[in-house]
Amino acid sequence: MSPALPDGDEAPADGALPASVVAGAQTRAFGVYLHVPFCTVRCGYCDFNTYTAVELGGGASQASYADTARREVALASSVLRTAGLPEREVSTVFVGGGTPTVLPVADLVGMLRAVDDAWGLADDAEVTTEANPDSVTPQSLAALAAGGFTRVSFGMQSAVPHVLRTLERTHDPSRIADVVTWARDAGLDVSLDLIYGTPGESLEDWRTSLEAALATGVDHVSAYALVVEEGTRMAVQVRRGELTLPDADDQASKYELADDLLTEAGLGWYEVSNWARGARHACRHNLAYWRGDDWWGIGPGAHSHVGGVRWWNVKHPRAYASRLESGLSPAAGREVIDDEAAALERLMLHVRLAEGMPLAEMTADERGRVAALVADGLVDGRVLLTERRLLLTRRGRLLADLVVRTLAGFGA
Ligand SMILES: C[S@@+](CC[C@H](N)C(=O)[O-])C[C@H]1O[C@@H](n2cnc3c(N)ncnc32)[C@H](O)[C@@H]1O
Ligand code: SF4
Repeated sequence: MSPALPDGDEAPADGALPASVVAGAQTRAFGVYLHVPFCTVRCGYCDFNTYTAVELGGGASQASYADTARREVALASSVLRTAGLPEREVSTVFVGGGTPTVLPVADLVGMLRAVDDAWGLADDAEVTTEANPDSVTPQSLAALAAGGFTRVSFGMQSAVPHVLRTLERTHDPSRIADVVTWARDAGLDVSLDLIYGTPGESLEDWRTSLEAALATGVDHVSAYALVVEEGTRMAVQVRRGELTLPDADDQASKYELADDLLTEAGLGWYEVSNWARGARHACRHNLAYWRGDDWWGIGPGAHSHVGGVRWWNVKHPRAYASRLESGLSPAAGREVIDDEAAALERLMLHVRLAEGMPLAEMTADERGRVAALVADGLVDGRVLLTERRLLLTRRGRLLADLVVRTLAGFGA
């Protein structure tokens, strides 16, 4: 189960891109996202495009996945060359899922080698893999580092057993400190993902999770408000009244507590849901998404964006493999983003960043709506005046979607 793909236009069978993608390419970073659509078990809240062995059935095995993904890397390299894009090294790679670390390390390193062979990895490339805390060992983390990975992002979610049980997480919370130590000993930069607002989680539970994350000395934390997605087991439990969701005030208190504790510990926010110990530890791959750079998404359901063209692959691993085996692009649909849509998208993404949205890049209409946001305490008036950029206040971060809708003229 995972969300439906957008409609868009039909994508060409060979994946060819229009000549328009070349304009300005030299000024945009180029990244690669590699989706690994497998998990050992599915957590009740998750609607990512991922499959357990039972859900997958025959025809698209985990064992053949790295080879299939390598076929898309070869296709991507040829499509970009044919479109006339300049040679660009890959500045960031992000292997996400699913749970990438259910694959053997040799497969993850093999896919990374394919990316390196196709385009070359920049000397300072950031190469991240996501991992579940119960899917790594000291040896596997050392092998990932030796194979070129520089960063690992663990799905910690919570340190509190009853919260982890409600989320249907399988790992033992006492393992978190160990996996962080192993990863750091291997030379990897480490990030922890946390979720707040799980049914039954108190503010003290959330404090316990934040303190446990910080006690590891980690340099990056992502804290996400739980989203109950339609079609998940958790949505059914909520509908039946078996689980009760927290209200908006509870979520806001938890965001504020996270921001207080993380900031006190030296991790500053750089995006609404992301904190890092200085710019050096911010996730460059995600920053490139938010800044509108170019990236190719490898894998079933993966999205790509190159020079104003966005496309997305067929979702099921079997359909994905069979398209590539037949020599076809796995793209299911695509859209060419016009200038107006691109500007709106830039606004939506940039407003959420601590680097803020330069006023000079906003339309006169958008700028006209800023004064009311300052008056409501959602935008920092001092930064607006002195630095001519729109920076969210903490209250604004809590209501970032409302700020974007207001700026774009969509009303509250
Ligand atoms: C692909 S998962 C991370 C890797 C790994 N599979 C794991 O769960 O540990 C990416 C992250 O998205 C977040 N996430 C997934 N579903 C979510 C939801 N419904 N609400 C909020 N956060 C969610 C979790 O924090 C998770 O760590
Ligand atoms: S392990 Fe991660 S990707 Fe897999 S089902 Fe759970 S949250 Fe989703």
